[in-house]
Amino acid sequence: MALDQASSPLDTNRKTTIFPCMLPWFDNGKFPLYLAPMAGFTDIGFRTLCKEKGADVVVSEFVLADAILRGDHKVWNSIEFTEAQRPMGVQIFGSEPEVIAEAGKMIVDRLNPNFIDLNFGCPAKKVTCKNAGSSLLRDLSTLGRICASLVKALPDCPVTAKIRIGWDSESVVAKEAGRIIEDSGIQTLAIHGRTKTQGYKGDANWDVINQVAETLSIPVIGNGSIASRYDIRGLRSRYGVSGLMIGRAAIGNPWLFEDLKSQLQTGQPGPQPTVDERLAFVLRYSEIMKAHYNHLGEDMILGIMKGRLVSFVAGFSGARKIRNRMSRLCSFEELEVLLKESLDAVRFTELARA
Ligand SMILES: Cc1cc2nc3c(=O)[nH]c(=O)nc-3n(C[C@H](O)[C@H](O)[C@H](O)COP(=O)(O)O)c2cc1C
Repeated sequence: MALDQASSPLDTNRKTTIFPCMLPWFDNGKFPLYLAPMAGFTDIGFRTLCKEKGADVVVSEFVLADAILRGDHKVWNSIEFTEAQRPMGVQIFGSEPEVIAEAGKMIVDRLNPNFIDLNFGCPAKKVTCKNAGSSLLRDLSTLGRICASLVKALPDCPVTAKIRIGWDSESVVAKEAGRIIEDSGIQTLAIHGRTKTQGYKGDANWDVINQVAETLSIPVIGNGSIASRYDIRGLRSRYGVSGLMIGRAAIGNPWLFEDLKSQLQTGQPGPQPTVDERLAFVLRYSEIMKAHYNHLGEDMILGIMKGRLVSFVAGFSGARKIRNRMSRLCSFEELEVLLKESLDAVRFTELARA
């Protein structure tokens, strides 16, 4: 069933499972909202802002296990985090169980994240052609060996996994994959309710997510097309999931987490950000990124940030003009001037309207 059709009455036969979970954010029926890992977006700045605005758990973008072993600085830098971001997971991918286990150990030794997450969902050709990411949904025996090997290597750090429902509509293997994952000692399973061939298009199949959640004892986290307009309470009650994971709808909109929490708790949407708040977030985001990447130099940091900065500036009059100027920024000083001028312009327009 498509997510936006989720409007039937509550299913009172839903199973209630007591699972032996090592992750305290599921304790006592808590229903965590995860920020989905998103390469190119879920950097240290964005994760911090989402955490501040209500995300319960955040996950790094995926990193190649081999690159971790090689000591690739860029890759290591992308998974660093601050204490304020906890609980924080680091997501890794690869195709060789031993390499993944070794990379997991290195990350835990150096950064001590709250969990290590395994990626079995990436559809990109450069990943699947190496039998990694979603390709492992066609090779469940290697998938199982990767899970078992990492769990064994990390006796003190929980391991979690994220899958798609299958390679294509002819090979939906979420249930089989889920069983293998659970049996190998993985602590939670996040399911993106699309197949690899769907990419990011079409409806996420929440019926499959539900079937897996009904079958497994570990917490299942539902993912796919969640946005503020959906019936979020219905998702919780109808699909047997223990938490939700939000991806694209959160890009540029960390306030979505407060909104969804408010909807879960009261049935009412949360407050929407003012333009002032949006622009203040741009500044905070750039400050966090500047501090974290200060060894790289201004040009490179701006290069990393520009595309991400513009995502915050949308949905209000004058936003396009600000985005245009942002894409041509040459220094942090220019960014500060731009934000100050934009704020003044917004306030002036508001005064003129009043
Ligand atoms: C730009 C982008 C980058 C992504 N990078 C990752 C990643 O690094 N690891 C991962 O497991 N999923 C990744 N995903 C998939 C998301 O985590 C999520 O499963 C997917 O977007 C569906 O959720 P949504 O419909 O709420 O966006 C990425 C998605 C996007 C759009």
